[in-house]
Amino acid sequence: MPVTLPQLAEKKRLGEPIVMVTAYDYPSAQVAEESSVDMVLVGDSAAMTVLRYSSTVPVSVDELIMLAAAVRRGLRTPFMVADLPFGSYEASNGQAIATAQRFIKEAGADAVKLEGGGAMVERARAIIRAGIPVQGHVGLTPQTAIALGGYKAQGRTAHRALDVARDALALQEVGCFSLVFEAIPAAVSVLVVERMEVPIIGIGAGPATDGQVLVFHDLLGIYDGLSPRFAKRYANVKQDMIAGVSAYANEVRAGRFPAPEHTYSIDPEELESFTARLPEFASAERLARFDW
Ligand code: KIV
Repeated sequence: MPVTLPQLAEKKRLGEPIVMVTAYDYPSAQVAEESSVDMVLVGDSAAMTVLRYSSTVPVSVDELIMLAAAVRRGLRTPFMVADLPFGSYEASNGQAIATAQRFIKEAGADAVKLEGGGAMVERARAIIRAGIPVQGHVGLTPQTAIALGGYKAQGRTAHRALDVARDALALQEVGCFSLVFEAIPAAVSVLVVERMEVPIIGIGAGPATDGQVLVFHDLLGIYDGLSPRFAKRYANVKQDMIAGVSAYANEVRAGRFPAPEHTYSIDPEELESFTARLPEFASAERLARFDW
């Protein structure tokens, strides 16, 4: 059965950790589905992991919708959240609602996620009032990393930790069903999480959150760009993929692939008839005139 919002809230109440992972296409969605995770995020991290932009900023709504729709086709059970990309929701409540609606209608997402507190709290409220569940995202917000001084942990002074707490509470207040805490000192997380009623999903926010999220390519070792300290690697899939493609290349070059079991047969009489008629193909000109 598909995971629902009440089930996620119940997991928090029972203290059952919530598992979230990103996915960007049909195969990664199927892996998430068969790994029994609770939530899948079509993150704008796709900008870097699959589209090779230098940050999450350039990815467009159309690009993310195409990826999210592919994820939808691979998912049945986990709750699916799609990221609203940079520039697609900040300008006005109308813009935020229109973009969120596209992710629901065109990609089949269950909810959207947006980054930041402050003025973004109003955007979250507007989307929720339009009937779309919203997940907030505070701490390190990669879309505005330049304004934050780079890809750095947030909330490391009392003042900045209070900013994080204030944003989190404001997003909860307007009805966000859950929040992501990214790159926040573990001790700050403990103190904020115990004041929150909605499930808090952490990434680099320590063990006190109600769940964890990791980027698919980081955890499986598919992406070998710079990864943050919280990106624990559980597999080395890129090495396995290189080994597979290299073995294929070696077999083709050595004449070992394809083998008989990879080829199709033809009835010997048909083959004989074909061979007999081959001279009809003496020239390209005759081939063009041939009565198929
Ligand atoms: O885009 C993303 O993958 C994210 C996670 C890091 C939470 O926002």
